[in-house]
Amino acid sequence: MAFATRRFVRAASSAAATAAAKKLIVKHVTVIGGGLMGAGIAQVAAASGHTVVLVDQSDEILKKSTKGIEESLKRVTKKKFADKPEAGAEFIEKTLKNLTTSTDAVAVVHSTDLVIEAIVENQEIKNELFKRLDKFAPEHTIFASNTSSLQITQLANSTTRQDRFGGLHFFNPVPMMKLVEVIKTPMTSQKTFESLVDFSKAVGKSPVSCKDTPGFIVNRLLVPYMMEAVRLFERGDASKEDIDVAMKLGAGYPMGPFELLDYVGLDTSKYIIDGWHSLEPNNPLFAPSPLLDKLVEEKKLGKKTGEGFYKYK
Ligand code: NAI
Repeated sequence: MAFATRRFVRAASSAAATAAAKKLIVKHVTVIGGGLMGAGIAQVAAASGHTVVLVDQSDEILKKSTKGIEESLKRVTKKKFADKPEAGAEFIEKTLKNLTTSTDAVAVVHSTDLVIEAIVENQEIKNELFKRLDKFAPEHTIFASNTSSLQITQLANSTTRQDRFGGLHFFNPVPMMKLVEVIKTPMTSQKTFESLVDFSKAVGKSPVSCKDTPGFIVNRLLVPYMMEAVRLFERGDASKEDIDVAMKLGAGYPMGPFELLDYVGLDTSKYIIDGWHSLEPNNPLFAPSPLLDKLVEEKKLGKKTGEGFYKYK
């Protein structure tokens, strides 16, 4: 009897150890922030069979997010199911069934496997959110941030689950862009990292991995490139139009650096470069640009305000 009990205890504890060592398969997702990125992330997660709760500050914002998702799904479906309209309608219906909304993050995280944060790019506000959710989310829940420019490590430190915390950096527009950068801090467990990689693949993206370094891969290369284009123009070496043509025709880029700056938003680019400059003031790649600063001060922020480096009115 004693032998059987010992065997049972040994089997049970080895099952628990196996479960603990197994990576989490994400099924239920909470996306916080229903703006440009959050709505896109919620869309691709719901479309790939996950149950998703999208959270924002008001029902009005969430209504707008849902409407945007519905319109985006129609566009995706038109392409994906061009000659099968019935299958397309079924796909939209199934996706929307997987998606609910809420204004109360605390109330919905109790049954989620993964929280993806895509709120305003502000360290304090994000820290406060993660700290609060950490108290209410189950033990197994993984937290991820979609931040473009903040340190994942600092966000993870606002919680007690640093090993279950990583970066999931999607690209805009999320339903179209295939890449996700999966960010591993020194504290992110291998199991968490693998779950995030698997989740990225499950939503139809191609994940790449990067350490928690400013700009990760894409922005680390892209932002200094755009800033160098501004400096080239500021020195009067070439016109912005010629620089854009040169990079499109000579490098095969789909947009020139000034078109891209206007698309991204000049305020966003300034915010990123200023943040990196304060981290590494002697790095010439991160030097601020007086011209960019001036345009932002004049509220010429790019496409969204009707004028940036170019006029859109
Ligand atoms: P956005 O301004 O379109 O959306 C942010 C949303 O978060 C808003 O709807 C706002 O109401 C909501 N929000 C703010 N505080 C909240 C809180 N405490 N609780 C719940 N909801 C809250 O911003 P966007 O562009 O979607 O960016 C979100 C995040 O994604 C940022 O961290 C940004 O750096 C990152 N990102 C942005 C990209 C872009 O191209 N816009 C690309 C990749 C990452």
